[in-house]
Amino acid sequence: MSRYRLLRKNKAMRYLVEETRLNVNQLIQPFFVIEGSKKKETIVSMPGIYRFSGDLLLKEIEKYIKLGGKAGLFFGLPNKKDDLARGAYSETGVVQKMIRQVKKNFPKFLIMTDICLCAYTKHGHCGIFDGEKIDNDKSLPLLAKMALSHAGAGADIVAPSDMMDFRIAAIRKALEDNHFKDTAILSYAVKYASAYYGPFREAADSKPSSGDRKTYQMDYANSREALKEAKQDIVEGADMVMVKPALAYLDIVSLLRHSLSVPIVAYNVSGEYAMVKAAAQKKWINERDIVLENLTAIKRAGADIIISYHTQEILSWTINDR
Ligand code: PBG
Ligand code: ZN
Repeated sequence: MSRYRLLRKNKAMRYLVEETRLNVNQLIQPFFVIEGSKKKETIVSMPGIYRFSGDLLLKEIEKYIKLGGKAGLFFGLPNKKDDLARGAYSETGVVQKMIRQVKKNFPKFLIMTDICLCAYTKHGHCGIFDGEKIDNDKSLPLLAKMALSHAGAGADIVAPSDMMDFRIAAIRKALEDNHFKDTAILSYAVKYASAYYGPFREAADSKPSSGDRKTYQMDYANSREALKEAKQDIVEGADMVMVKPALAYLDIVSLLRHSLSVPIVAYNVSGEYAMVKAAAQKKWINERDIVLENLTAIKRAGADIIISYHTQEILSWTINDR
């Protein structure tokens, strides 16, 4: 029998035996970019997060980098939507323009982009939709074109979030065929159909106009297919795999960590952020303490990298003292 309290007696002792510590180099802030200039739009369900036009977003990124930010995940809101998601793979698309500007100003900053059609189509689905069904295989060339155009603009990492089957293979092949040998693929391999994406759909204006995403995103009742999805994406050419959402899915993060040897990314999604913000605004919880607890738990479960809307704020805190 042991006196377990011995190793908890004061801060120095607790730090001495600490197993998990957040590493700010492994946190990623998502950014929403819109067309135009001098625009900063609030997102009601995500206090503290804004949609910026390119000019203001550059300033925001400069601030973020000064705080120690190393990487960002970019989402675009196009001016026009159509059934073939043309804005998603246009040379002059909102994200493509942003990538070029960011790379020009901050060449070492890691640019990760979301690859999906939902924000660029009127129907708001993640693949090509014929009014009744999502056409998996017709969606693949468009996703590949989108990834290719982001890579061409200078993205370091493309991150497909659409959940069509075989899209990693399609994207990897398109990158190889066009000599983009430096672009990494982070697959949203294990993405559950989740109510936690609600605030994001306000932010990115990407709510499906009919139906839901349950025929392509995973069922939260299941864990076995998580491993199959992730393994297949690695075979298809993914460099890293993601679990999304994070907090209600720590068992999945842990399962993947123990079964795979690629970096595991967890996405601390919009609804997880919104719940913390709402309770903090009411002073029902201590925001800093809750955020550090949540993110440390995600890391403890086995995530190497965390995408979180809290990132920029965390960078302004002293997280070494807790
Ligand atoms: C697009 C996409 C979504 C998120 C990331 N990429 C929304 C969705 O699938 O409905 C969610 C991110 C978040 O909630 O923070 N497919
Ligand atoms: Zn989508």
